[in-house]
Amino acid sequence: MTGGLFSHIGSVSPLMMAMLKSCGRISSVGLYSPPFGGSPLRASTWWSGVQMGPPDPILGVTEAFKRDTNPKKMNLGVGAYRDDQGKPYILSCVRKAEAQIAAKQLDKEYLPIGGLGDFSKACAELALGPDSEVLKSGRSVTVQSISGTGSLRVGANFLSRFHTATSDVYLPKPSWGNHTPIFRDAGFQLKAYSYYDPKTCGFDFKGALDDILKIPQKSIIVLHACAHNPTGVDPRPEQWKEIAALVKQRNLLVFFDMAYQGFASGDTDRDAWAVRYFIGQGHNILLAQSFAKNMGLYGERVGGLTVVCRDAEEAKRVESQLKILIRPIYSNPPMNGPRIAATILNTPELRKEWLAEVHTMANRIIQMREQLVAKLRKEGSTKNWQHVTDQIGMFCFTGLKPNQVERLTKEFSIYMTKDGRISMAGVTSENIGYLAHAIHAVTK
Ligand SMILES: Cc1ncc(COP(=O)(O)O)c(C=O)c1O
Repeated sequence: MTGGLFSHIGSVSPLMMAMLKSCGRISSVGLYSPPFGGSPLRASTWWSGVQMGPPDPILGVTEAFKRDTNPKKMNLGVGAYRDDQGKPYILSCVRKAEAQIAAKQLDKEYLPIGGLGDFSKACAELALGPDSEVLKSGRSVTVQSISGTGSLRVGANFLSRFHTATSDVYLPKPSWGNHTPIFRDAGFQLKAYSYYDPKTCGFDFKGALDDILKIPQKSIIVLHACAHNPTGVDPRPEQWKEIAALVKQRNLLVFFDMAYQGFASGDTDRDAWAVRYFIGQGHNILLAQSFAKNMGLYGERVGGLTVVCRDAEEAKRVESQLKILIRPIYSNPPMNGPRIAATILNTPELRKEWLAEVHTMANRIIQMREQLVAKLRKEGSTKNWQHVTDQIGMFCFTGLKPNQVERLTKEFSIYMTKDGRISMAGVTSENIGYLAHAIHAVTK
């Protein structure tokens, strides 16, 4: 076909063409067709200015792992739990809840904008505790959202619309890689406070306090409630207390990210300690929760956003605005995952079974940490590996340098992110000896 959308292009004068090009409104691709012979008219492109983006650092690790043919290869990049055979693990309470739901033959009508009420209530109660004054007085709102990421993003959008006193969000250094784009895309500027001390592979308590003291009033501070990702380093209760006091003194708005409740210690109440303590100290926090890890519901995308308010009347107003925000983004959330989670949380036998299973998952990870240190010693490593057992949750910040990580990948087919973070969930009784041997080989 000749003619068509750009058939008039031959009538554009050379001067006009140069002006269009210089102001960046057109590129030379596909707009010009030689009048006689030559190549046929090429389709125009709307996206010639779109640059190739970098691959996701974690998914990139998985891609490289898949290509590797070494039978001993290990993928320690992904943040998903594996059983001791290295297989994805579906919790038995999840299977039972699914069977119960299937038997009910429920309809598939839309959920309300704020999600499944039974889920949101149980979700908030799990985090804040059954005796929470906040829940009793009705001064909070919880909306079911799309796992932890969606909850963070809805919260970020809410803050950007209604907390106009600041455009700064402070993240721990380092933080989960997705925090930056989540808050940046919601219109915030990202700043950081000290958190991880590479010298001790532990918490830089003094650095954190020094930095928080300098954060301008009313700024937003993101805190990982437990099992900090990527470092596995959490403040101790007495350190949390000092942080809470300082955050109050600086009048900062706290956004807790709790993606691993139960996964850190094996005890859901213990892992929610910091969240409950802050609320007890009068912090009206935002809280993002995920059920990806602690219920193994990764792809179901189950999570919740809670905003703690001054009173029930304020909570109602906030709820109305959250709905107004959510409606044009995804209208209403998915129903399958929250039905599973709500069935587990609201059925006493299933809840009991779930708590035992969370405990088993957390314990397997704690055991792998202990065994890794023991095996490193057996290999003859004289380095101090205590941080491996001090750290908690799915991830271990090994302290390995980029060149050592590179050697592990090249020489041993062991894959991890460049920062030396390993997912302890990918370590099993079978491959732990090989891992210890390889780590010792690149660190001696
Ligand atoms: C710190 C942290 N926050 C939030 C999330 C959110 O995960 P999801 O959206 O899968 O629930 C993750 C997942 O890795 C995480 O590590």
